[in-house]
Amino acid sequence: MELILMLNFGFLEDPADILIFFGRFHPLVVHLPIGFLILAAIAQFASRWPKFQPIQPFLHYLWALGSFSAFLAVLFGYLLSLSGDYDTDTLFWHQWSGIMVLALSLACYLVFKKQGKNAQFVKWSLVVLVAITITYTGHLGGNLTHGQTYLLEYAPNPIRGMAGLPPKKEPRPKVTVLDSADIYLDLVQPMMDGKCVSCHNPGKKKGDLLLTSYSELMKGGENGEVVVVGDAGASELFRRITLPENHDDFMPSEGKRPLTDEEVDIIEFWITAGAFPKGYVTKLDSKKEITETVYTYLGLDKNSIFNQTVDPPNTTLIDSLTDNGFIINRLMRDNYFLDANFSLSERKIARTDLDLLLNLKEQLVWLDLSHSGVTDEHLQKLGQLENLVKLNLSGNVISDNGIQHLSKLAHLESLNLYDTKVSEGLIDLLPKLSRLKSIYLWKTHIGDTLAVRLQEEYKNLTIIYKRETYK
Ligand code: HEC
Repeated sequence: MELILMLNFGFLEDPADILIFFGRFHPLVVHLPIGFLILAAIAQFASRWPKFQPIQPFLHYLWALGSFSAFLAVLFGYLLSLSGDYDTDTLFWHQWSGIMVLALSLACYLVFKKQGKNAQFVKWSLVVLVAITITYTGHLGGNLTHGQTYLLEYAPNPIRGMAGLPPKKEPRPKVTVLDSADIYLDLVQPMMDGKCVSCHNPGKKKGDLLLTSYSELMKGGENGEVVVVGDAGASELFRRITLPENHDDFMPSEGKRPLTDEEVDIIEFWITAGAFPKGYVTKLDSKKEITETVYTYLGLDKNSIFNQTVDPPNTTLIDSLTDNGFIINRLMRDNYFLDANFSLSERKIARTDLDLLLNLKEQLVWLDLSHSGVTDEHLQKLGQLENLVKLNLSGNVISDNGIQHLSKLAHLESLNLYDTKVSEGLIDLLPKLSRLKSIYLWKTHIGDTLAVRLQEEYKNLTIIYKRETYK
């Protein structure tokens, strides 16, 4: 090989590149010896039947093709190994069993070329050995490219057990409430799985670093630990993901999809908080530094109500509501969610109207009851319309006591209380409306001080109060 290295590839900056360039054909070329040699072995057995006897004089050509392509595979494989990207143990065995395949197939060529009848046992042992070695070599080759765990990753647990592997990892259930989000298990490890383990796994251990589990990550890489507990700034892992993207040390390398700003912030928080193997975000984050980010990162802010399918509403019910002064519209083409509006009716709303509405509880997501004569007492029924996303109660005589009935509206995103008597009662209500995005509070009994205080506490809530919002 030194000889090749010494040849002057004048047109290339780095002569080793051309070798690895050829080396990368190895995964393509290896399929040739596999095909030829398996075919040769089968044909060799078949030729024992009288029917296939006529192919016998040609069999040694198959062995010749097999050994020649095995030679190419070995050569290109060697060139590829020069890149140093592979697990050295597996590589050692893969390389030598590949060379064995070459030697055995050459031997087959030689013994079958001579049509002599002698030494049958030796001949057939050679054929069987070629078949076994080629399977073994191929398997190791697969492990090198895909990682040791690739083949049995999806195997049933009893089979994994026989191979000495631990049972399959149970996938983490999808996080649906913020309080159950685990900083490492639900956030950090999935980021590693998605963006880092393709190069940092047991088969392809770049920088001698595994990012497949907490303990491996904490063990570090060729230059020691990559996470300094409590100090993100001093952690190599954090440095690598925050460098400019074109920096040589930037991770993930080779232009792979980088971590997002949110992901980087979450990792920073995780390291600073103590780089624990598990722990709930909401417990660790007493100062609320990262909770909001995690909330949106996990998609918990998206209203899941519209992903549900609801049944078509009862048409007689719709008719009676329309007769009573409601305007009812369907909101989407492929679902039966409804928008109901009573604000244009000349009547005041009555309890019986609300009873009718309750029968539409499943479909009703937008409701406009502005200037409709709604009272605190009515709110108790309204509070049961639990799929409401938007509710307009402006211009009604309702107060703090009444609005507490709205606390079960878990999907509510917009609440209009403009021109009502609402005041400090909001302090109790707001924490319960976890999806609320905007609230209209002008012309209520809420003063400037309270409005500012609420805005400081609920940073992601748009409070429409004076001319401008406090965003
Ligand atoms: C395309 C392959 C690739 C991907 C994807 C990748 N890395 Fe790397 N990583 C490497 C290579 C190659 C090295 C060794 C060379 C070096 O130190 O830059 C390395 C080295 C490192 C090191 C230094 C280890 C040591 O001890 O020196 C850290 C830390 C690291 N990677 C973290 C990450 C993180 C975090 C991700 C995911 C965001 C990631 N890597 C994704 C290829 C990759």
